[in-house]
Amino acid sequence: MGEFVPTATETMTCPPPTCTVVSGRAATEGFTYQAKPAAGDPYPYMQGFGNRFASEAIPGALPECGRNVPQKCPFDLYSEQLNGTSFISSRQTLQNVWMYRIRPSVAHRPLAPMPANDDVQACFSPLNPSVSFNPLSHTWGPLDVPAADTTPVTFVSGLKTMGGHGDPTAKEGIAVHMYAANTSMGNEAFCNNDGDFLIIPHEGRLDIQTELGRMAVQPGEIAVVQAGIRWRVALPDGGVARGYVQEIFGTHYELPELGPLGSNGMALPKDFKTPVASFNVDDAAWALVVKLAGKFYRYEQAWTPFDVVAWHGNYAPYKYELANFVSFNTTLKEQVDPTVHTVLMARSKIPGVSLTEFAAFQPKWQTSTNTFRPPYYHRNMATELGGLIRGTYGGSSRQQVAGGLTFENSYMPHGETYEAWRKATTEPLDNVLVGTDSLGFMLHISSHLALTTFATERHGCIRPQRPAMWDNMQAHFYEHIPAINKMLLDKGLPGVVVTGSVTGLKNGV
Ligand SMILES: [Fe+2]
Repeated sequence: MGEFVPTATETMTCPPPTCTVVSGRAATEGFTYQAKPAAGDPYPYMQGFGNRFASEAIPGALPECGRNVPQKCPFDLYSEQLNGTSFISSRQTLQNVWMYRIRPSVAHRPLAPMPANDDVQACFSPLNPSVSFNPLSHTWGPLDVPAADTTPVTFVSGLKTMGGHGDPTAKEGIAVHMYAANTSMGNEAFCNNDGDFLIIPHEGRLDIQTELGRMAVQPGEIAVVQAGIRWRVALPDGGVARGYVQEIFGTHYELPELGPLGSNGMALPKDFKTPVASFNVDDAAWALVVKLAGKFYRYEQAWTPFDVVAWHGNYAPYKYELANFVSFNTTLKEQVDPTVHTVLMARSKIPGVSLTEFAAFQPKWQTSTNTFRPPYYHRNMATELGGLIRGTYGGSSRQQVAGGLTFENSYMPHGETYEAWRKATTEPLDNVLVGTDSLGFMLHISSHLALTTFATERHGCIRPQRPAMWDNMQAHFYEHIPAINKMLLDKGLPGVVVTGSVTGLKNGV
């Protein structure tokens, strides 16, 4: 068994860049830029979002230009295409990848169903007894993790679906999972046929080996692995890995439009990193686990699935460090919606309407004058799921901790406590840098969301809402009624009439 990861100079674009030097220096073959290995990440990457990349772990492994399927591929590799979109798609949306591999992925033994996993769901119809739509606010702590020596749990076997809507068989909808793992996947690869995974680690570094190359992803970074790609997750530091997954059906993640912001800002395309080709020479026994409509199937083959020597295309996994996000906020007055922090979004089938927005909350200066600075009280069409990657929860109405999750279903009202409102309406509005000790995120999902019975019954840390939390909300308007009535009387208008018993009245009416 051997492994080949190219160095920066071994991966090249197709065709190799060449030039005639007239004067000075110019780029030549071998100087194609790549992201360099960094702390906690030994792998090289190609940079850019949605690019059509080309990568070869052995020089000359890609076919000559003008052909994807030559009669005989270099080194007798097999050519294989993976489509992430329909054959007939607009050029703007078309995503595919050509792989040149030691054996084609068709070479495997028959699939067999695996034992049911009631903690993973994909169908969020009200007819599914394992999910329910309910309007209650929910808060959960981190997932429990059993001891590795008694109960080994991998990234895949440790997936727990919290909620979702739609169905992958209809190519419309979403699922939100939490994961908790204590063991690396062995000679086992995972292939999710249902949707794309957005992985948000909270604890523990992940070494994600995909058919198209390797990524190291740690808390503070996110990664996307698209449907149909085979991959496995190792825990290079041992211990425990926990985090979140947002899975989207029938679509792919993209960068939000920039609109009036112009051409720069938010998540910069250059900061997304896609792996370079990397393959193993390994004829040991391997298992493939396929998720289809939420059910798991397994088959075996007598060699590694990670045998892609070269590939080109734009259907490829990527990662992103959230600290690179370029934030915007108000500079004088008012609030902007939290979607200004959107890193990635996905479109629904309704024109102009997103399926989901993934927003991460970075440190920011608060500079607004005469403005209520905490999130305003609101009721959104979108369902909100909030997670905390590190630090302390900045809001007041939840008992949230790092690694936990909050849920507020579509159109349900929420906001800060009375005490937080009181403080925000009376404190001096100094310019302050906030959020320096935490990293949180929000999933804005444009629909009702069903919760699974795992989320409502079996999760090990369900944090119920405090029933009396809103009972002390004061109606300070009443204090102004005498003055309002005098003002109205002076204008010859009828005064405010108190029609029932009220609390908090001062000085009479
Ligand atoms: Fe909200």
